Order: sequence, then structure tokens, then C-alpha cells
Amino acid sequence: MKTVIVVNGGDAPGINAAIAAYSGLANQNGDQVIGAQDGFAGLLSGQLTEIDLAAVDLLSGRGGSWLTSSRAPVLARDDAGERLSHVLAQEKIDNLLLFGGDGTIKFVIPRLRTWDISCIALPTTIDNDVPGTDYTLGHDSACNYAWQTIEGIRATANALPGRIFLVETLGGDSGCLALAIAYACGADAVLLPEYDFGMDWLAERLKTAVARRGYALLLLSEGVPGAQRLTDEIPKITGIRVRLTRLGHAQRGAAVSHIDRQRAVDMSRIAYHALKRGSRGGTLLSRGGALTLQEGEGAPAGKPAPDYGQYAFVNGL
Ligand code: F6P
Repeated sequence: MKTVIVVNGGDAPGINAAIAAYSGLANQNGDQVIGAQDGFAGLLSGQLTEIDLAAVDLLSGRGGSWLTSSRAPVLARDDAGERLSHVLAQEKIDNLLLFGGDGTIKFVIPRLRTWDISCIALPTTIDNDVPGTDYTLGHDSACNYAWQTIEGIRATANALPGRIFLVETLGGDSGCLALAIAYACGADAVLLPEYDFGMDWLAERLKTAVARRGYALLLLSEGVPGAQRLTDEIPKITGIRVRLTRLGHAQRGAAVSHIDRQRAVDMSRIAYHALKRGSRGGTLLSRGGALTLQEGEGAPAGKPAPDYGQYAFVNGL
């Protein structure tokens, strides 16, 4: 069996661990694995490379991806199916192992199926916003990164009382990542693109937190526009200084958490054995913590909403 590994869209911590696990398993069983550089754009133009087992082994705990990714929508082109089938036949490739987020999985898996190309997709994004799965590779590491930064903020917040700390997370147009962090780290308020909020309510909530414990911690998802505006506005209506921390892309390149490493191995193992027994592919989904291969399908339509119960808890609603 010969597999090509493709990374499409935003990278996430855990990809290197999964590449190492899949390639190592295939190698032990006498199967071949190669990688595409630059996602599908690279695959279509024949940018294929041998997987350097020692290099990916060394990078297993690091964020990013040894195989570069791309957001270029090359599979939307009319001749994409024909070109892809041609490359795969020419290189004698049997199947694909694909890393990608919401867009990749919803769009690519059905396409590959219509072109009769065998592919297993591993939902991979720090945003944890792929419908049909309660886990995406990289999310846990991004949460851990945020936690460590927030612990630093908490230390100075306690040492010099009287400030409001606004922490902005990545997450795209989904608030799932910001909520997961806010809920676990004891934030006083969280603002998400999915739910409206009022400035008067926010000011009261933050002032109460500062009065109660000396500081307030406000989490903000990047999908809510205006971190700088809030940083300017909140002091005017509360009379309290605001300090803004943007986690930014370093959060996406975070060190790989134990859970993400374990899940990277689980996913790779399931994908390898399924392809080996001749599966035509599908998407690996986690439900209640159990991973299953949804054969033949991408993710369901729609977008998961952040848990309202957790949102209400953080915001004291
Ligand atoms: O992959 C998801 C994500 O990290 C989002 O959280 C973020 O909004 C986006 O990608 C950033 O994309 P880019 O790296 O293309 O700026």
C-alpha cells in the first residue's frame, strides 16, 4: 500500500505526531508513505517528498507541520479530479491521509468520493469547530498554551491589584476555543461571536470581579471584532485600567499536549488499519471521546455552537 499525506488549511499541534505515528506503522508493515508539500496545490503539481522518519520523530512534540500546508482552493477547479487521479496513478498512490479543518472536511471529502479517490480525513484545527466531532486535533494544545499564559497574567494580576486583563484567543469565526479556555481557567467573562452582549452588563461584571478579588479576567474570541476598541472603552466606563494580551498565532504553534499526542496516535492507527483493509475512506469523528471512522462522508453541515451552559456559567447569567 502507498499513502500520500496531505495537510490542507490551518496547521495545528499534533500533525507531526500523527505523521510520525502513521509513517512508523506503515514502515513496520512494509507499506510506503510519502508526503505532499503545500497541500493539494503541491500534490497536483507533483511536490512529493519521502517522509524523513527521524525528522518527524524529533518534531512529534512540536507544533506546526513538517509537511507544509496551503489554503489555495485548487480542488474547486474543473479539471482538478482528472489532474489528481492522474498524479495518483502516475505515482502509484493508493490512498490519502488528510489533515484539515471544517472547510477541508466538508468540501474535500465529498469531492474525493465523487472522483473515487480513497482518503481518510483527520479533523485538525485548534478551533474545535468541525460539526459531528467533539474533538479536533490541536485544540487541547492551544488550550494548554492559553492556560500557561493566563497563569502568568494571574500572578501579576494578584501582585498588583486594580486591573482588568483582556485576553484574545484565536478561533476564527467560532467561539468554541475561547469558551473552552474561559470555562477552565476561571474567567470572569467571555465574549463570543455567537452570543450578543451589552457594554453596561460587561462593565458591571468586570467591576464586581475587581472589587471581589482585585482583578478581572475577560476572554475574547478573535471572531468578536474590536479588541482594541474594548481596551479603549472599558476604562472609560469602569474607571479601571485594561491590559490586552493577544495570544495570536503562537497559540496555533503551541507545544503538543499529552492528549493531542495520544489522539494523534489513536487517529493514525485507526486510519492506517482502515486503509489497509481496503476502506474507501471517510472522516474520523470523536463522539463522547470514542473515535469512529464515518466511512464515505465528510462532516455534517452546519457549525457547532459553543456550549450555552458553559457560556452562561462563565458570564454569571
Ligand atoms: O486554523 C484555524 C485558525 O488558526 C483560526 O483560529 C484563525 O483565525 C486562522 O486559522 C488564522 O489563519 P491564518 O494562519 O491563515 O492567518
